[in-house]
Amino acid sequence: MMGPVLAACLLIILSTAWISQANEALCKKDGGVCSCNNNKNSVDCSSKRLTAIPSNIPVDTDRLVLQGNKLSSLPGMAFHGLTKLRQLYLSNNQLQALPIGVFDQLVNLTDLRLNRNQLTSLPPRVFDSLTKLTYLSLYNNQLKRVPEGAFDKLTELKTLKLDNNQLRSVPKEAFDNLQNIKDLRLEENPWDCSCRDILYLRNWIREKQGNVSNIEAAECAVGNKAVLDITEKDAASDCVSPNTTTAIPTSTTTPASVIYDDIHEIKVPQENFQKFLGYQEPDHLPTQPQCLMSISGYLGLMMSLMLTSAAILYVFHFLKKA
Ligand SMILES: *[C@@H]1O[C@H](CO)[C@@H](O)[C@H](O)[C@H]1NC(C)=O
Ligand SMILES: *[C@@H]1O[C@H](CO)[C@@H](O)[C@H](O)[C@H]1NC(C)=O
Ligand SMILES: *[C@@H]1O[C@H](CO)[C@@H](O)[C@H](O)[C@H]1NC(C)=O
Repeated sequence: MMGPVLAACLLIILSTAWISQANEALCKKDGGVCSCNNNKNSVDCSSKRLTAIPSNIPVDTDRLVLQGNKLSSLPGMAFHGLTKLRQLYLSNNQLQALPIGVFDQLVNLTDLRLNRNQLTSLPPRVFDSLTKLTYLSLYNNQLKRVPEGAFDKLTELKTLKLDNNQLRSVPKEAFDNLQNIKDLRLEENPWDCSCRDILYLRNWIREKQGNVSNIEAAECAVGNKAVLDITEKDAASDCVSPNTTTAIPTSTTTPASVIYDDIHEIKVPQENFQKFLGYQEPDHLPTQPQCLMSISGYLGLMMSLMLTSAAILYVFHFLKKA
């Protein structure tokens, strides 16, 4: 029994090694799709119709450009280990959600671009590790709300672009820790000026007017009034509590937890294949349990193939006779 198992395991290890070899080509000079500038530790994979992030991005990458592709989801571990990364461009993709913790290891990040995607929500505390961030663009998405405390750790942030979203309000204290903010884009959102919870934003804009660019451009969804100018009387309604999805009347919105779970389910075909082979991390060969699991997967597949062919042969045999 040992012989076939070992042979199968060897086969699996060889095939995963082959896949890992195939994945290794990141840069054009090695047959990959990305332009790499090794002196600048820069990897540019822009506008390549990518549906998945290339593997084997060097851990010392400083600038990673993935804009203008077809990324619709990111694996939770997509950027793990890239602790020296300073610039990450994910703009112009099809991202609908972000996995929890996706940026947690990017402690050196200064510039994060997520504009022109289809984000409807942000996971809780998704920017908490980005304490050096100075530039964050989220414009041209479909954000319905900002999670409580989302920007609390971004004390170095100078530019925040939230324009062209579906925001109706921001939670109380949302911008209070942005000590260095110079430019904040809020326009082209349907700010709901009839709800009392808009008064935090109004007061913040009034306080920062003149010191933070562009904040006066925020306008109420109804009546073309600037958020800056709304009165207590305008904003007299007690609307939905700010920690539920603010004033969204539809009950069809998916709860955040479901969205994040969905993300883990969506896998590009290659990843499925790798999973089938017991192959998880780009630079790890399968461990023994993974290998054993793969073998049982293989044997199961062989068995079902054999059964199917037997059934087909039987049917043919039967038809011939008849
Ligand atoms: C941040 O970047 C610097 C400079 O590249 C590097 O020396 C340092 O190790 C990075 N920080 C972490 C936590 O990796
Ligand atoms: C605005 O900036 C000026 C000059 O930098 C500073 O003196 C003032 O305290 C600032 N005001 C606010 C509300 O931050
Ligand atoms: C809103 O959040 C606060 C604290 O974050 C909590 O105490 C309160 O129960 C929440 N309200 C609702 C309606 O969930």
